[in-house]
Amino acid sequence: MGRNVPSVEITDQRNVACIRGPHGEVGSTVRQQLRTEVVVYAGLCALVEEMYVEIAKEFHGEQPTDSEGTRCCENWKCPAVHRKDPMPYRTIIEPFRIHTVQAIDLPTVEEREAALERAGFNLFGLRADEVIIDLLTDSGTGAMSSEQWAGMMRGDESYAGSRSFFRFESAVKDLTGFSEVIPTHQGRAAEKILFTVMVSEGDVVPNNTHFDTTRANVEYQGAEALDLVAASEPSEILPFKGNMDIEALRAAIDRVGVDRVPLVMMTVTNNSGGGQPVSMENLRDVRAVCDEYGIPLFLDACRFAENSWFIKLREEGYADRTPKEIAREMFSLADGCTVSAKKDGLVNIGGFLAMNDHETSLQSRNLLILTEGFPTYGGLAGYDLEALAQGLEEVLDEDYLRYRIRSTEYLADKITDAGVPIVQPAGGHAVYIDAKAMLPHIPSHEYPAQALAIELYRNGGVRGVEIGTVMFGRPGADGAPDEPAAMELVRLAIPRRTYTQSHIDYVAEVVIDVAAGASEMSGYRIVEQAPWLRHFTARFEQVASSKT
Ligand SMILES: Cc1ncc(COP(=O)(O)O)c(C=O)c1O
Repeated sequence: MGRNVPSVEITDQRNVACIRGPHGEVGSTVRQQLRTEVVVYAGLCALVEEMYVEIAKEFHGEQPTDSEGTRCCENWKCPAVHRKDPMPYRTIIEPFRIHTVQAIDLPTVEEREAALERAGFNLFGLRADEVIIDLLTDSGTGAMSSEQWAGMMRGDESYAGSRSFFRFESAVKDLTGFSEVIPTHQGRAAEKILFTVMVSEGDVVPNNTHFDTTRANVEYQGAEALDLVAASEPSEILPFKGNMDIEALRAAIDRVGVDRVPLVMMTVTNNSGGGQPVSMENLRDVRAVCDEYGIPLFLDACRFAENSWFIKLREEGYADRTPKEIAREMFSLADGCTVSAKKDGLVNIGGFLAMNDHETSLQSRNLLILTEGFPTYGGLAGYDLEALAQGLEEVLDEDYLRYRIRSTEYLADKITDAGVPIVQPAGGHAVYIDAKAMLPHIPSHEYPAQALAIELYRNGGVRGVEIGTVMFGRPGADGAPDEPAAMELVRLAIPRRTYTQSHIDYVAEVVIDVAAGASEMSGYRIVEQAPWLRHFTARFEQVASSKT
């Protein structure tokens, strides 16, 4: 490392221990990457100086130019998103007090082993009270606020035209700007209605990455669900890994013909692609292609608020915009959306379909009456609509979003620092452990991610979910090994406002401990499986042979 180092000053602002150099501040993400936190707090300036040179080289090229260092560079990895508030401490606290608690059972190792045997080593088969920390999903598993519960008491249960519906409708219109708002009991019901109305056999629906229910609902119409997310490696750190490959989109429309593409979808954040965000620029580019061909654009907007926060942190020009302004801009680029409100609606059940096209909304409402209920309640109670309207406001609170994204990143940092391979950078709602990288001795057809998920439960009672060959692989014909999935991941999804930092510290400890014994782990074989969606009910047994 060269000795011709620029001078650096170490400051400690709230949220970000800043290393200050000639280019301004190097923010938290860079710091985590280079594990400088310890260094910063130990005050080892010389080492920091050397690191700064490396950082400067990596992000600014060899020759730094801005000698004033008054402003952060444009690079998303050192965003100048520091709070100007009177709290000068770096710990990001949970921005809520606990009001009601639910006991967590603490099953013993023997009890967990027995539960695994009973469930056929399928974590979906466990009872919730056999789990210590449940990171199976972030969907509908969050805690509601006292204001939401108060709203539930105000629920108007009139069959038609209830007050609660109008409060919900006005919250959705205020957020999305869409003129037609249709409540549904959850996200997949909105998908089913939209695709029944808009998609025909032989059509093709492009998306960055379809979530599994979205894919299933497109395929149920006899259409093709086409994933066109821009290519990247799991370990590659990029700001917007959920972006659509624009050229691939254009090429796909040209290839199949515009008449066969009834709509384009964009999933924000991209759940099946690691919970990665989509940039506003990419949304604008997708919109431009849709305009060029005259195709409507819909958002699968379950995690719109988390995506907005990532745009604020990482995209040039958005640092001073509120999450609500950013969310509104995202929705303004689309013609409609499907939403599972069990995520950023902060409710345990609920969803909606919204759009501008009146004719499509009429057809959708007719179908809604057939399958979900009258258009002023969908599949929901009046009190659910109240909780949802309130949730849509609370989720855009900056203190909440800062805590939410940081708490996921916190888990990612802890386990990355200990050498555990994950999809980088951390997603908004989940951390995805790369089981293929951790367990290279277990072949895909012996389900390394399933083996890892089982071990996390066995060792620490932590329940994650396999997202690999069990979920997405295809069973081989006549006993041949399965066709593997592209990635072997264990997703640890963080329920909203539910676990505290010590719960997450515990999870990190379990993951690190299990990773230390990785070479001892062996794979599994499936002994029973359903013809579709086998991951929910398959039964497994351990394979002795892949043990080293
Ligand atoms: C991106 C995405 N779309 C759609 C859905 C389906 O929503 P629901 O489970 O409410 O039917 C989910 C659920 O996890 C999701 O993550």
